[in-house]
Amino acid sequence: MFEKNKYNKKDQTKTLYSERKLFNPMAEATQTKLLLVDDESAYHAAFRRALRTWKDLQIETAPGGREALKKLEVYPADIVISDVRMPHMDGLALLHEIKARYPHTFVVMITGHADIQDAVKAMKLGAYDYLLKPFDMDAVAIILKKVIEHKNLFHDNIIADGDQRENRRFENIIGQDPKMFTIYEMISAVAKSDASVLLTGESGTGKELVAEAIHFRSNRKQNAFIRVNCAALTETLINSELFGHEKGAFSGATTSKKGYLEVADKGTLFLDEIGDIQPQTQISLLRVLELGSYQRVGSTSALQTDVRIICATNQDLVQAIQEKTFRADLFYRINVVSIHLPPLRERRLDVPHLAEYFLKKCKTSDDKNIKGFSNEAMRLLMKYDWPGNVRELANVIEHAAVFAKFSQIQPADLPEGLKSMASFPPVTLTLPSHSLAQAESILIRSVLEECEWNLKKAAKILEIARGTLYGKMNKYGISKPD
Ligand SMILES: Nc1ncnc2c1ncn2[C@@H]1O[C@H](COP(=O)(O)OP(=O)(O)OP(=O)(O)O)[C@@H](O)[C@H]1O
Ligand SMILES: [Mg+2]
Repeated sequence: MFEKNKYNKKDQTKTLYSERKLFNPMAEATQTKLLLVDDESAYHAAFRRALRTWKDLQIETAPGGREALKKLEVYPADIVISDVRMPHMDGLALLHEIKARYPHTFVVMITGHADIQDAVKAMKLGAYDYLLKPFDMDAVAIILKKVIEHKNLFHDNIIADGDQRENRRFENIIGQDPKMFTIYEMISAVAKSDASVLLTGESGTGKELVAEAIHFRSNRKQNAFIRVNCAALTETLINSELFGHEKGAFSGATTSKKGYLEVADKGTLFLDEIGDIQPQTQISLLRVLELGSYQRVGSTSALQTDVRIICATNQDLVQAIQEKTFRADLFYRINVVSIHLPPLRERRLDVPHLAEYFLKKCKTSDDKNIKGFSNEAMRLLMKYDWPGNVRELANVIEHAAVFAKFSQIQPADLPEGLKSMASFPPVTLTLPSHSLAQAESILIRSVLEECEWNLKKAAKILEIARGTLYGKMNKYGISKPD
């Protein structure tokens, strides 16, 4: 059934679409096709007016989901911007259909602030982004610009790569943020070469995952991928691990040993925390990168290796060069291509995707039959700053699955740091001027609804006896709806 939006769109069009002059990033781009789907024609006019200076943007409109699908049969839109609340066929159903029929079309949903759950649903269904009302046209311009950049990127790759597109899938790297798409493109491109790669980014952003992705997409994939954590080893140990040693080279070297450079021959060596290696090892490594040659510790004969080197660091190597703790010549050798992994807080829209992914991977969630996240829990996950990035998110989801009592993860299941940001009970925020009794009655009702009217669960959350809950329900006239 069509539910009229609580807020009045017509009133807002005035403020939303101030006749601000918009930056037009499309001067160089080829034509982009936009389809705007909304049941209010005032919106159509406002979009056309605000975007009239975008010469290479073609705008078509549709008053509802069904009409949009009809239009898409003849109008191959690059991007569809659709309201969620519409009569007959709502925006989420439309999104579902578009993703099934035209998977490469970018879909952006417009949702109300009160309907954050719709935005989360939309992202799960594969929406590219969402706009929360009220929004201004600058937000639309930013999205359009990103879509155009993507479109051009994919267009170039299709031309360059023909049938290779299948290989661009990254099953184990989750992320739909444009920054991640750029990373996927870079992984595909560097995998075809032997160039050294430097991966930078905060801890837990996925540097090791990317190193593996490069190796397993390269023609070295049949050979070894070896990871060495340079921060965890002393200088003697790292030399012996990397280059190998001869018997008697140092006390404790009772036999000779192959180094990783030998084991990883024709494969990939991933040097994690490269910023921590000592000056002498830096020189030896430089030789490997320049000539492919090295010596075992305690040996004078040179060995050859054909190894691809990928390094990672979360240190600022340029500063290390200035401080003379890292050699500039080595830096240039390892940094032929650099890939920067963005922190999770700069791609918050990936949080729902990652959270779902980790929940599915988590064994406990199967045993307990956990289906997903409550509105409030997801809001907290999206709001949090994630100093430990994706690794921290993975741990938080595992923690939440262990503590979950219901079919959805609740704020109470999250670790302290996240829980303390909660506004639970959410009703108190929106009802500032109620008596204590009224607030109590609203809180009880909201918890009961959250628990699908399971009194035992609700009493547990409210930390009162079931009998007390029952008494209060009677007092406030609260009963389960038919
Ligand atoms: N985009 C992603 N999709 C799925 N899992 C991810 C993603 N990014 C990171 N992870 C997971 O998060 C964890 C941390 O990733 P990874 O070890 O690659 O980070 P890192 O940048 O190497 O961190 P550090 O600098 O601390 O070594 C791993 O379990 C990894 O599988
Ligand atoms: Mg790592």
